[in-house]
Amino acid sequence: MSSEKWQSHSAEETIKRARALGTSLRPGVKIALVGELGSGKTTFVKGLALGLGVQDAREVKSPTFVIFHMYQGKIPLYHFDLYRLDEHSDLEGIGVEEFWSDPNAVSVVEWADRIPNILKDADLEIRFSRTGETDRMIRMSGTVLPKSLGRKGFHENRP
Ligand SMILES: Nc1ncnc2c1ncn2[C@@H]1O[C@H](COP(=O)(O)OP(=O)(O)OP(=O)(O)O)[C@@H](O)[C@H]1O
Ligand SMILES: [Mg+2]
Repeated sequence: MSSEKWQSHSAEETIKRARALGTSLRPGVKIALVGELGSGKTTFVKGLALGLGVQDAREVKSPTFVIFHMYQGKIPLYHFDLYRLDEHSDLEGIGVEEFWSDPNAVSVVEWADRIPNILKDADLEIRFSRTGETDRMIRMSGTVLPKSLGRKGFHENRP
């Protein structure tokens, strides 16, 4: 298990860092995002999508009525948003369990803490907190960081 945190000062910076992460992800990686409303989770997913080669990352938005989107990139990206679920739900119950565990895609889930099993099952957990108008503290932890991501590549993009 390794972890790191950084302070983002703008949405653009969050996208840039997430994009760098996206380029180094392997298929099968499961990412859990946790943080209050407006803390930057969807913004981060946009960056991931760019890094994964999704052509139109502007498509990436917080789903309002659906809880699942997929985007076609070099590696497919599955994007879940569990905001509307309660803790008694499970992904199986809503029929997307097999997507979450797809070894050929990267899965990312907003409000992952709504389903404790999802949080437990994730390879990478990213927590967002709002520390100012455009400041966000972003903490990442997980087993996938050093091995699959390559910490070197990750640090190269530090300002
Ligand atoms: N440093 C930053 N990182 C990310 N977003 C930022 C930052 N500074 C300002 N913002 C703005 O904050 C908002 C974050 O919204 P976003 O939809 O990404 O949050 P969210 O965590 O997905 O919220 P929700 O829980 O409602 O889905 C955007 O309008 C974004 O432009
Ligand atoms: Mg969102």
